[in-house]
Amino acid sequence: MKPFIIANWKQYLSIKESAKLFAQLLQLDRDSKMNGVDLIIAPSFVALPVLDAAKTKIKIAAQDCGATLVGAHTGAVSPTDLRILGATHVILGHSERRAEYFETDALIAEKIKAARAAKVTPIVCVGETAAERAAKKTRVVVGAQVRAALSAVKDPSELIFAYEPRWAIGMGTAVAPEDAAQIHAYIKDLANAPVRVCYGGSVSPENIAALLAEKNIDGVLIGGASAKFASLAACIKNAK
Ligand code: 13P
Repeated sequence: MKPFIIANWKQYLSIKESAKLFAQLLQLDRDSKMNGVDLIIAPSFVALPVLDAAKTKIKIAAQDCGATLVGAHTGAVSPTDLRILGATHVILGHSERRAEYFETDALIAEKIKAARAAKVTPIVCVGETAAERAAKKTRVVVGAQVRAALSAVKDPSELIFAYEPRWAIGMGTAVAPEDAAQIHAYIKDLANAPVRVCYGGSVSPENIAALLAEKNIDGVLIGGASAKFASLAACIKNAK
């Protein structure tokens, strides 16, 4: 299967900057420089209406969604509308949402159900903190997060998982590929079905090839290095 790159633009780019970066990526695709990579970009909600991926191979993900399709939930965004705006995927349970917005496994499970009801594929982020890793609790923490996500679907293959150790996000140093791969294998064992698992946390043009060389690392979820054309294009180029 082709490796995939998910570009999580977080809150880095304005609508105008998102449109510009998207246009540069469309040109890369037209120039046949996608290097056999499946690219999914995750812009902010408000940039979705101006990015038209309809006639391209590039896919769009939202960075979050509401836990219901409709209702009295001020500020929530329905996965139905995300789908209408072209999002085929949605990132759920990102560690920044778990930490800054206190999202729980139970809430994330509800969001997974809502996304699936709207035929949007959840990219479920799991990962341990530095303290949990130091206490050798990585598998306990990741296992609980994965099981909660699996409880929300009938078929595990409806989900993509992203292993993002919290301590490796935005730090400039990724986890050793073989260490990440062991956790990926653990996640796949828990799913007990064909699921794709990508790695996130300080992925860069320098380390992407070594990460993707691991059998159990099916793709990468990139933050900082995905929000600038030069570094994202370099990641794509170096992916194989
Ligand atoms: P960085 O690539 O900036 O470490 O971010 C990783 C991430 O959180 C992607 O979702």
